[in-house]
Amino acid sequence: MGRLSASPCTLHITWKELLLTASLLIFWNPPTTAQVTIEAQPTKVSEGKDVLLLVHNLPQNLTGYVWYKGQIMDLHQFITAYTIDTETIIFGPAYSGRERVYSNASLLIQNVTRKDTGSYTIQIIKRGDKIKRITGHFTLYPRPVLGRPPGLNLI
Ligand SMILES: *[C@@H]1O[C@H](CO)[C@@H](O)[C@H](O)[C@H]1NC(C)=O
Ligand SMILES: *[C@@H]1O[C@H](CO)[C@@H](O)[C@H](O)[C@H]1NC(C)=O
Ligand SMILES: *[C@@H]1O[C@H](CO)[C@@H](O)[C@H](O)[C@H]1NC(C)=O
Repeated sequence: MGRLSASPCTLHITWKELLLTASLLIFWNPPTTAQVTIEAQPTKVSEGKDVLLLVHNLPQNLTGYVWYKGQIMDLHQFITAYTIDTETIIFGPAYSGRERVYSNASLLIQNVTRKDTGSYTIQIIKRGDKIKRITGHFTLYPRPVLGRPPGLNLI
């Protein structure tokens, strides 16, 4: 639709690797619930490689998971979802064709690019009359090459 724009003010930096960090915010914390964590594998990934966001300590009796790009559960940033009962994968507007959600809630991002940098949020939906949600943030951010890479063009 829109034309490709090339702003003259673009900061051109050659990234050698993308640094991954995983952290977590929990909005669901009965004391008996083990803490859900998200682990990035590998923790450092180069452009073009794959990264898996592993979800550990999933609670019981879930109906599904929803992954979002960003730090909030914005429907426009909805990437993909998995519904457990029907084993169905759903794609949202933020799906790039490179994300794959597994039945264990983990998200594989293939062929990462700089556009994949940022936070990721998972919403975990529990079965029953009380719908519970867990939001984890995952941040993928680029780490500049030490020294001055060719093409670095500071404005
Ligand atoms: C999970 O669901 C089963 C069947 O509905 C129920 O018996 C069990 O108590 C639930 N477990 C938890 C941890 O909610
Ligand atoms: C989830 O499934 C993926 C793909 O089968 C696997 O690589 C990953 O280890 C699993 N995650 C956990 C936490 O078991
Ligand atoms: C990865 O991305 C590059 C650049 O966008 C593309 O040329 C290549 O076909 C992609 N590879 C896969 C496996 O998607």
